[in-house]
Amino acid sequence: MKNASHLTTVLGLNSRVTLALSIVLTLGVICLVLSQVGAEEPKLTQSGNTQMAQQPPPKQQKKPPQKKKQPPPKPLDMIKLEASFDEKLFPIFEEQCANCHDVGEAERGLQLLEFSTFLVGSINGPIIEPGKAEKSKLFQVLQEGSDPHMPPDEQLSDEDLSTIKSWIDGLPKALKSKLGKHDKDGGTPHLH
Ligand code: HEC
Repeated sequence: MKNASHLTTVLGLNSRVTLALSIVLTLGVICLVLSQVGAEEPKLTQSGNTQMAQQPPPKQQKKPPQKKKQPPPKPLDMIKLEASFDEKLFPIFEEQCANCHDVGEAERGLQLLEFSTFLVGSINGPIIEPGKAEKSKLFQVLQEGSDPHMPPDEQLSDEDLSTIKSWIDGLPKALKSKLGKHDKDGGTPHLH
């Protein structure tokens, strides 16, 4: 009996050991399976990454093609503009407008014989819209039937009209910044 109980004990021990072993084994298998699954995942991610890397970069990441830098606007060549004023407009003004729009007799404060005072305009402001003859008071008052009409009792020739029109149309828009208001106190016109 002693032996038997010993055996039982041994068997018991053995069965406990077996149980323990099988638990350990089961846990081991579970661990193994889990570790396999775990190992799969990074593989998937990795292959995913590889695919991503092989794909061409999304369009958003592409740098937008840099806009060609526009050349900076040419600085105003006032000397050249004054020379063209003297050449094209002065002869007309001297002959047709000087009686009433010169230093001594400046109707509406408008002095037409100097480029600088011409740019100032009248007491109402500039008489030109650079680049747009049709919108310029200077050109408007020269049209037949305009009110007021300049010169008051005469009509400029078509040739003079087209000379003045193309001169204003050819002016750089930047000249607008040089157009000033007349000194309302009646003083000498000046550029602002
Ligand atoms: C006989 C005088 C006389 C002559 C010549 C004359 N003007 Fe005038 N001008 C006037 C009078 C007066 C006014 C004001 C008219 C009004 O506002 O009713 C005036 C106004 C103007 C205005 C409008 C100014 C403003 O902003 O109110 C312009 C522009 C002008 N003249 C341009 C000219 C040009 C260009 C010529 C020559 C082609 C000329 N004038 C010839 C008398 C004259």
